[in-house]
Amino acid sequence: MASPPPAWNRSPDPFAELISAEAIAARVAELGAQITTDYRPLIAENDVVVIGVLKGSVIFLADLVRHVALPVVIDFIGISSYGDATVSSGVVQITQDLSRPIEGKHIIVVEDIVDTGHTVHYLLENLATRRPASIRLASLLHKPERQEREVKIDYLGFTIPNKFVVGYGLDVSQRYRNLPYIGFVTNA
Ligand code: IMP
Repeated sequence: MASPPPAWNRSPDPFAELISAEAIAARVAELGAQITTDYRPLIAENDVVVIGVLKGSVIFLADLVRHVALPVVIDFIGISSYGDATVSSGVVQITQDLSRPIEGKHIIVVEDIVDTGHTVHYLLENLATRRPASIRLASLLHKPERQEREVKIDYLGFTIPNKFVVGYGLDVSQRYRNLPYIGFVTNA
């Protein structure tokens, strides 16, 4: 039996728990089962490529694909978003491209969060020009109050309030991606 992750000493870290590690695990398992059902008929004809958006999606992606009982391909794309600030600039740039073409393949883009929607909107438009067979979006989190771009999330983990969140892949100034739960910055 694997031991649980070590307890964080939260006293120097001003994060209040918003979504527990257990709640995340349960929801990710459901999403993986849904993806398995949806893509089982498709994978016989074309590869299914799960594309992680670096770096925020890596923990979600790693857990999600282990609940997908199909031989998917994994790739990553790097996108610049906030830098080290907590405000969206709306300026999006590909900093690291996919390792292979996606023409004719079924694509599942995996994001950590849809906030304003600018990043994923740009990314989905860019990937569509590469002529995949289909594109869907999985996002762990959605902050609808902040959304400025219409984005369809096919596989959504949780809708959250307008708070800056951290953990399970999401960072504050590049730190705390390895926090096993999702917390929000309280400034306490
Ligand atoms: P958007 O372009 O505003 O939708 O934001 C996209 C990216 O900003 C996400 O993929 C995250 O990397 C980052 N981001 C947005 N909101 C948060 C947050 O609350 N915590 C940490 N990162 C965030």
